[in-house]
Amino acid sequence: MASAASIAASIASKTKTKKKHFVAQKVKLFRASDPLLSVLMWGVNHSINELSHVQIPIMLMPDDFKAYSKIKVDNHLFNKENMPSHFKFKEYCPLVFRNLRERFGIDDQDFSNSLTRSAPLNSEAQGRSGARFHTSYDKRYVIKTISSEDVAEMHNILKKYHQFIVECHGNTLLPQFLGMYRLTVDGDETYMIVTRNVFSHRLSVYKKYDLKGSTVAREASDKEKAKELPTYKDNDFINDGQKIYIDGENKKLFLEKLRKDVEFLAQLKLMDYSLLVGIHDVERAEQEEVESEDNEAEEEGESDGGVIGTPPDSPSNTLDSTKPLSPGEFDPTIDVYAIKSNDGAPRKEVYFMAIIDILQHYDAKKKAAHAAKTVKHGAGAEISTVNPEQYSKRFYDFITTILS
Ligand SMILES: *[C@@H]1O[C@H](CO)[C@@H](O)[C@H](O)[C@H]1NC(C)=O
Repeated sequence: MASAASIAASIASKTKTKKKHFVAQKVKLFRASDPLLSVLMWGVNHSINELSHVQIPIMLMPDDFKAYSKIKVDNHLFNKENMPSHFKFKEYCPLVFRNLRERFGIDDQDFSNSLTRSAPLNSEAQGRSGARFHTSYDKRYVIKTISSEDVAEMHNILKKYHQFIVECHGNTLLPQFLGMYRLTVDGDETYMIVTRNVFSHRLSVYKKYDLKGSTVAREASDKEKAKELPTYKDNDFINDGQKIYIDGENKKLFLEKLRKDVEFLAQLKLMDYSLLVGIHDVERAEQEEVESEDNEAEEEGESDGGVIGTPPDSPSNTLDSTKPLSPGEFDPTIDVYAIKSNDGAPRKEVYFMAIIDILQHYDAKKKAAHAAKTVKHGAGAEISTVNPEQYSKRFYDFITTILS
C-alpha cells in the first residue's frame, strides 16, 4: 500500500502538469467580483475533487506536513469576465487539512459547496484590522488573507497542532484550520487560510469584543466605534459592565478547554491571540426579524442551505436544512462555539467565544519590536515585558473574570 506521503507526492506531480485547455462546464461559473475569489473558488473545487480520488491513509506521515499540490492554469478564453486568464493555485498539506476537516466534523463536499456555490462575502466582522476577511456565502467559514510569515508559522506548528486536535478530539477553542492556499494572479501571490466561523451562520451578533487580558491601549478607537459592528476591547468590556452569563456546567467546560488551549499556545511560544466574543440578543433579533420581514424571508432562503438544494448524491450533515429552528436556537454541530445564557441572565442571549489570531510567535515579535525600537524609541515597551507563558496566564485569568 502506498504511503500517505507518496500519495501526496502523486497529487503534487499530477496537478503540476500544465493544463492548456480544460473542459468548459455547462452549468455554473465561478463568478465573484474579485478575480482572486473566483480563483479561490476554482481552486477549492479542484482540490476537493482531486482529494476525493485519493484514498484516506491509515495515518499521516511526516512528509504530509510538508507536502503541497500545485496547479497552473492558462485558460486564455474560458470564463474570461470572471477568471484571470492565467493563474496558479497551490494547496498546502492537503492530506493534513483533509484530516483536520474530518476531525472537526466537516464533510469535504459540504466544505467545497460552502466555498463555491456562491462567491464569498466581504467581511470585516472578525479579527485584527489590516487583514482581509471574507466569509463563505453561507457564513460557515472565514477566509483570511495572511502573510507568507503566517504560512511559515503554520508549517512550524502544524504537526503539533494536528496532534493536539487528535488528543482533544477536536474539542477546542483554538481556530479550526481547514485549508491553506496560495493564489498567484498576475505574478502576485496571495495566501489564504480557511477556518470555521466563530460566530453563527444564522444568529446575528449585535456586539463583539476582542479580548486579550491586557488593559494597555485596549479600547476601540472612535473610528472603530463608528462602524456598524465595532470590535470592542478589554477596557470597553470593563467600562460597559459587560458580563457573559453562562451556567456552571458550561463555564466549567469552557474554562477547561481554554486552559488546555492556552497552555498549548504557550508551549509553542505563541502569543498576542485574542478571545473573540460575539453576543446574540434573542429578543432583539426577533424584533428585527419582524421589522424586516420581507428581507428576512429572502435571506433565510439563502442561508438555510436546504432551500438552495443539496445535490441528492451529496450527504448533508446539517440539521437546519430539514428542521426550522426557533429563535435563539442553534445547531451545535455547525455553531460549535455557541453557548446559551443562563436562567439568571438579564437578557436571553447566545454567546460565541473562541480564540483567534494565534500565529504570532514570541521570537518573531521580539525581533520586530527590536527593529521598531531602533527606529522609534519607546515603541514596544510593553512587548519586552511579557513572554508567552505570562501572556497565557494573564489571558486566562482575565477570561475567568468575564464569566458570570
Ligand atoms: C469543479 O471540478 C470538477 C472536477 O474537476 C469539474 O468537472 C467542474 O467543472 C468544476 N466546476 C467548475 C464550476 O469549474
